[in-house]
Amino acid sequence: MFNQEIINKFKSIKTPFYYYDIAVLQKTLKVVKEESSKYNFIVHYALKANANNELLNIIKSFNIGADCVSGNEVKKGVECEFTPEHIVFAGVGKNDDEINYALDQTIFCFNCESLQEIEVINELAKAKSKVASIALRINPNVNANTHKYITTGLEENKFGINLWELETVVKKIQTLNNIKLIGLHFHIGSQITDLSSFKSLCLKVNEIQSWFVSHKITIENINVGGGLGVDYHHPDENQITDFAAYFKLFNDFLELRPNQKVHFELGRAIIAQCGTLISKVLYIKNGVNTNFAILDAGMTELMRPALYQAYHKIENISASNNKQPTTNNLKYDVVGPICESSDCFGKAVSLPETQRGDLIAIRTAGAYGEVMSSAYNLRDRVKAIYSNQI
Ligand code: LLP
Repeated sequence: MFNQEIINKFKSIKTPFYYYDIAVLQKTLKVVKEESSKYNFIVHYALKANANNELLNIIKSFNIGADCVSGNEVKKGVECEFTPEHIVFAGVGKNDDEINYALDQTIFCFNCESLQEIEVINELAKAKSKVASIALRINPNVNANTHKYITTGLEENKFGINLWELETVVKKIQTLNNIKLIGLHFHIGSQITDLSSFKSLCLKVNEIQSWFVSHKITIENINVGGGLGVDYHHPDENQITDFAAYFKLFNDFLELRPNQKVHFELGRAIIAQCGTLISKVLYIKNGVNTNFAILDAGMTELMRPALYQAYHKIENISASNNKQPTTNNLKYDVVGPICESSDCFGKAVSLPETQRGDLIAIRTAGAYGEVMSSAYNLRDRVKAIYSNQI
C-alpha cells in the first residue's frame, strides 16, 4: 500500500504517528452511501471508533449521522456540525450532565438501556419542559461469534433491556409524559465477520416487533447498531468491507412495517482500513527462542493487541534496505517500550531481516487506535498525519 514516495515522506516525520489515507476513507464512504441508499437505510458513524476532527469532517460531508456514547462525543458531533437531528446517544451509564447537554441540543434519540435511565431522562426533560425521543436498547440475546470482550448482545452482558423486562418497561413508559418512544435499538457486538449473526439478529428483531404490534405500539425506527467487521489479515486485498452484502441482508431479512426507517451505527467498517500506525525500530534484541524488534510505539498508541489479543498486520516498510519479503525472513516478537509484558503487537512475526531505524507499519489501526491511546508511562501523545496534507 505504501509507495516509495510516501515512505520517503515518512522518513522525515517524527515517529510514532498515525497515518490516515484520506482517499481510502473517501472510497469507503462512497460505497457505504451507495449501498445503504439502495434501501433508504440511514447510517450513523460511531464516533467511539475514531473521533479525530479531520476525519469527522470528511465523514459528515457524506451526509452520515453520528452515534455517540458520551456527552463529550455528543459535543464533538455538534462541534463538527453533524446536525442534531442526526445524532443518537447510547451508553449504559449516561450521567445527568450528559443527558442535560443532549436535551439542550435536541438530538434525534437517546438509546436507553434501563428503566431507571428512562425515568431519569423523563425527569430531566420535564425540568426543561421538553419531550425527549427515546429508543429502547433491547438485549436480543443473539451471539455475535466474536471476541468475548466485544460481544454485547447476550443476556450475560451489561447492555440493553432484557426481553423479560419489556412488559414492565413499556407499561412504565406509557405513564411518562416527557419521553416519546420512537424506536428500538440493538447492537450485538463488534468485528463481526460472519454475516449469519446479523441474520439471527434480523429474525430476533422481527419476533420483537411482533410483540410490539400485538401490544398496539407503533415503532417508527429500527436501529440495528454496528459491528460489521474488517479484514485485518488482508488490508490491501480487502480494503473495503462487503457493504453490499451487509445492507442487502438486512433488506432481505428485516420485516419492516409501513414507513419504518432502518438505522445503522457503523464504526470500524468505515474507519479501520484508512489508518496505519507508523513506528520505528529502536532496538533488535536476541531472546532465548526469538528475536525482539523493539518499537518506539507501544500499547499506548494501539492497545488492541494487548487488550484483545487482536491481530494487526505488521510490515517492515523501510525501502532503503530494499527489504522485500523473502524466504529468508526471520521471526520477531514485535514489542513496544511500555513496562508491561502484554505490550506486544505480534509474536513470531515473519519479517525481512530488520534493524534499528527501520520503519514498521501496523495496519488497520484507524478504528479503536487513536481514541484508545493513553499517556501510560507518561508517554507523549502522538500526532496524526493525513495523506492529503503531506
Ligand atoms: N453501536 C454501539 C451501541 C456500540 O457499542 C458500538 C461499539 C458500535 C455501534 C460501533 O461498533 P463497530 O461498528 O465499530 O463494530 N474497542 C473494541 C471495539 C469496541 C466496540 C464497542 N462498541 C475493539 O478495538 O475491537
